[in-house]
Amino acid sequence: MSNAVLKLADLPKAQPFVLSEEERHEIEHALGHYPDSRAASIDALKAVQKRRGYVCDEAIPVLAEAIGISAADLEGVATFYSLIFRRPVGRHVILVCDSISCHLTGYDELKGELVKQLGIQPGQTTKDNRFTLLPICCLGACDRGPALMIGDDHHGPVEPADVKKLLEAYA
Ligand code: FES
Repeated sequence: MSNAVLKLADLPKAQPFVLSEEERHEIEHALGHYPDSRAASIDALKAVQKRRGYVCDEAIPVLAEAIGISAADLEGVATFYSLIFRRPVGRHVILVCDSISCHLTGYDELKGELVKQLGIQPGQTTKDNRFTLLPICCLGACDRGPALMIGDDHHGPVEPADVKKLLEAYA
């Protein structure tokens, strides 16, 4: 057995979060559009998510400073807004509506088929990092339920029999 003692200084250090030029530019552009800088919060979070897939904890204070609001306020927005991902996700995020209209039009069957085809439960990512499956409340497509989104694409109504072919379109 090794007698080596792991010191705190030996542990890998977390990389500081630095905004890219593109991200900073996009945030400044958004700030120019709103009289209250707070209103640019979601644009700023999306600017990071678009390029990195999700918004890590370290990004919050950096973004808050860029916008000119407190980190606690920005954390609140990031937590409340379900389209901002706070943990790594797969290449394609599937958001399945679990609100009332979609429940009445076949949500359970649709979710069951997604779980079967993907081999994961809601909240999980496939081993090949291709898909993350997440529940979401109303996507605003209640007349086309059961509805889901894959990335930015809306789909609905989606029958369980459609799922396999639909997933094949997302490599
Ligand atoms: S209830 Fe599902 S889109 Fe509105």
